[in-house]
Amino acid sequence: MKNLKLNNGVEIPIFGFGTYEISPSQTKDAVLSAFEDGYRLIDTAQYYRNEKQVGEAVRASHIDRDEVFITTKTMTDGYEATKAGIDESLQRSGLDYFDLILIHWPMGHDLDTWHALEEAYKAGKTRAIGISNFNSRQTIDLINNSDVRPMVDQIETHLLLQQWKMHEFFEKENIVHESYSPLGSGRQNLMSNPILQEIGQKYGKSPYQVILRYLVQNDIVTIPRSTNPAHIKANIDIFDFELNQKELKKLRDLDKREPIDGWPATMREDEDY
Ligand SMILES: NC(=O)c1ccc[n+]([C@@H]2O[C@H](COP(=O)([O-])OP(=O)(O)OC[C@H]3O[C@@H](n4cnc5c(N)ncnc54)[C@H](OP(=O)(O)O)[C@@H]3O)[C@@H](O)[C@H]2O)c1
Repeated sequence: MKNLKLNNGVEIPIFGFGTYEISPSQTKDAVLSAFEDGYRLIDTAQYYRNEKQVGEAVRASHIDRDEVFITTKTMTDGYEATKAGIDESLQRSGLDYFDLILIHWPMGHDLDTWHALEEAYKAGKTRAIGISNFNSRQTIDLINNSDVRPMVDQIETHLLLQQWKMHEFFEKENIVHESYSPLGSGRQNLMSNPILQEIGQKYGKSPYQVILRYLVQNDIVTIPRSTNPAHIKANIDIFDFELNQKELKKLRDLDKREPIDGWPATMREDEDY
């Protein structure tokens, strides 16, 4: 498993497991299944209501805490509520620290919210901090008005919305690009895409594995979600083949700049910077 280095030197696994819409009762088993298959990055959020079960899975796995990378996300607006919310997340999960805390989406008082994340970072409550669903203008605003530069921006990124403009912006600003909904949230008919099929056949991989490999090969941290143990296992089985330049180009040409449901509206401004 390859790691990427964040701008504070902390390493993040390039591939992980998403837990959005996994119910609390299913989360522990799904995360344990992911750990067994070699996943080490788990993505949760206050909004998902499953931080507690992610923490339980970390302890039940008996994997050393410093070998797993746990991300959570705040869903509060402003300094006081966010400061309290981070402490509640630590308590709920039973973890001593997170590896990454993200502001889940911009809400209005983002600079104040960011100051609470900075404080948690400086206090050792998290090894890294970042943002999610922030466009380039919102990101620059944080950078210009704070001490700690965001280390990650987690944004919707998949075959039909490849986010190349944002990717270039991230490279310029030394921010890691993390993809959410890499499989289009299960709402795209990836299995019947002829180009994914053709490339997959060559390597003995499914269309799902081809798109996950494509994202990872472009240095995008990728966190597919599944509650099906066979899918969980298959999704991480992408580190034994390499797409060539021609294939990378073919896949890039499939970008339609098409979000799943257009949320949040501010991300449509990704061309503004
Ligand atoms: N920051 C944000 O605002 C934000 C927003 C959305 C998501 N996220 C994060 O990104 C993660 C991933 O995104 P997502 O949950 O929207 O969806 P996703 O990973 O793009 O797609 C999940 C869907 O794909 C199916 N699937 C997974 N592997 C498959 C396979 N090998 N073959 C066939 N079907 C497969 C799953 O069904 P099965 O369970 O049946 O496999 C599920 O329906 C989330 O869980 C969350 O951690 C963040």
